[in-house]
Amino acid sequence: MNLMNEKINHEHVLAPELKVDEGRIDNALRPKQLEEFVGQPKLRDNLSIFIAAAKKRGEPVEHVLLYGPPGLGKTTLAHIIAHEVGANIRTTSGPALERVGDIAAILTNLEPNDVLFVDEIHRMNKVIEEVLYPAMEEFALDIVIGKGPSARTVRLDLPPFTLIGATTRLSLISAPLRDRFGATHKLEFYEPEELVMIVRRSAGLLDVKITDEAAMLVATRSRGTPRIANRLLRRVRDFAEVRADGRVDAALAQEALRRLEIDDCGLDSADRSILTAIIDKFDGGPVGLQTLSAAVSEETETIETVHEPFLIQLGFIQKTPRGRQATARAYTHLGLPQPADHQSPQLQLTN
Ligand SMILES: Nc1ncnc2c1ncn2[C@@H]1O[C@H](COP(=O)(O)OP(=O)(O)OP(=O)(O)O)[C@@H](O)[C@H]1O
Ligand SMILES: [Mg+2]
Repeated sequence: MNLMNEKINHEHVLAPELKVDEGRIDNALRPKQLEEFVGQPKLRDNLSIFIAAAKKRGEPVEHVLLYGPPGLGKTTLAHIIAHEVGANIRTTSGPALERVGDIAAILTNLEPNDVLFVDEIHRMNKVIEEVLYPAMEEFALDIVIGKGPSARTVRLDLPPFTLIGATTRLSLISAPLRDRFGATHKLEFYEPEELVMIVRRSAGLLDVKITDEAAMLVATRSRGTPRIANRLLRRVRDFAEVRADGRVDAALAQEALRRLEIDDCGLDSADRSILTAIIDKFDGGPVGLQTLSAAVSEETETIETVHEPFLIQLGFIQKTPRGRQATARAYTHLGLPQPADHQSPQLQLTN
């Protein structure tokens, strides 16, 4: 078998980012109402209060900043908020807004209470950001007419609207922009029980017959990420259609997941190579992000936004002031003996 193909195939399956051919299916499986949105209980409660209050006042919902790793539901929530208040949603992204004219055209075409969704808002340029300040604060657009000494600013009124920003990198959002959001919400990785509900719901929509046990298997291997859960479900279904009668039971799911080289914790090959590098090349760490990035040929941004949050969540790495460090649990997971200097009480495994 061609190892290269295996690797590419495998990485495709567990990468939380949206794949080019996946947009349509992502949309089809997206919950439309807050009620259908599984998990994130705190965030859901807050949003429902926000939405109810805004509706009662007949005003737009306050600007919301959503952040968290890819595939956890930021875009989904933006659509849900718009749907719940009965408003239109206009979607754009930080990198798509190149000139002031781009954002001015969007803002002046909004209708009252519309939602403007700006994805990857951390990649918006400074000039556009400055146009947004008065727009967010006072629903006003300041336009400069003319050049040089005769230039003057004209203020246009905008309809009241809600800006929803989404980002995987909160630290790259400037303080003035952050301050202009009424609320900032973090999306957390999902619990297996929540992912089971998502898998079952998607199975229903895709008309896949799946047993509870198989749904649990898919859920626990999805890196706490709904997008991956949905993707694994589709892979398992493909396997069931080719190999069996189309029904997904535990044995079939197990076999399909084994073939996709997904380990018990849902780690992918990149996660594993990061852990292995910290352990083998840097004696368990601590190792700095740049050095680690060079050692595993992975972008620092990908390590920071995709791999690290999940590995920290599982307790496989710790972030220390001097860099990333593998925990005793990581050694256990990889089947490696614990190093002598890893016996410090705080890193000892208690199971
Ligand atoms: N809470 C949820 N309940 C059910 N399905 C969900 C939930 N959150 C996300 N999904 C599913 O996961 C998919 C990915 O979600 P979404 O596109 O909203 O993620 P995202 O956070 O915007 O990711 P990215 O950072 O890549 O833009 C959606 O198609 C949706 O079907
Ligand atoms: Mg998104």
